[in-house]
Amino acid sequence: MITIHDIHKTYQSGDTAVHALRGIDLTIADGAFLAIAGPSGSGKSTLLNVLGCLDQPDSGSVTTDEVDLTGLDGRGRTEYRRHNLGFVFQNFNLIPVLTAYENIAFSLDLLNLPETEVRTRTMEMLREVGLDGLGNRRPGQLSGGQQQRVAVARALVKDPRVVLADEPTANLDSDTGEAVLATMRTLNKRHGTTFVFSTHDPMVMEHADRCVRLHDGRIVEDGTDEETRR
Ligand SMILES: Nc1ncnc2c1ncn2[C@@H]1O[C@H](COP(=O)(O)OP(=O)(O)O)[C@@H](O)[C@H]1O
Ligand SMILES: [Mg+2]
Repeated sequence: MITIHDIHKTYQSGDTAVHALRGIDLTIADGAFLAIAGPSGSGKSTLLNVLGCLDQPDSGSVTTDEVDLTGLDGRGRTEYRRHNLGFVFQNFNLIPVLTAYENIAFSLDLLNLPETEVRTRTMEMLREVGLDGLGNRRPGQLSGGQQQRVAVARALVKDPRVVLADEPTANLDSDTGEAVLATMRTLNKRHGTTFVFSTHDPMVMEHADRCVRLHDGRIVEDGTDEETRR
């Protein structure tokens, strides 16, 4: 479980302060498939970055069952990220000169695993995201949907507890976005990995177990029913 308590985050932009998060309280269960919805500028990315230890809040706390993430120093945050979190981004963020296989295997590099295990896990992930046989292609030789599947595989290959995905379907057409989401859902069920993803796409929200809606840095709705997810 992840517990977020009274998170505030302000950005200084020239002379003006932007209150990106204004007191966020949220509990995320293990194995959740949670959508963070809300219009552009509502604080979705800021919240994901705080959850992902990529950014620090001004006040408030983020704790897991074992660790107070907000109490970690820079090195502690890096270690935590490396072992517990996977990330998927809107622009896929694959390394263009590496093949799909290499992009996935690369995220295991820092874990000092035996080469045979790297190979087994990477091949298995390629298969799980439906990219069997495409491991030798570079990102430029793959469709947007295929690239995002590589990114999902890269996030999952470490077997993290939590995958954070910032608008993972924003650059995909709706059918492709739906297919990528279905892949994420399958992996969520199969591995018990917690997924937290931001979106403003109603189709994506419908796939979620729970939808938290942000507006101007506050939670304005939080529900598991169909009404909230629309
Ligand atoms: N690095 C930054 N510097 C200044 N303002 C920022 C920065 N990042 C985000 N903001 C502002 O914080 C608010 C929330 O942004 P963000 O979390 O990116 O929202 P969303 O992802 O929902 O579009 C917006 O008003 C945005 O302009
Ligand atoms: Mg954003």
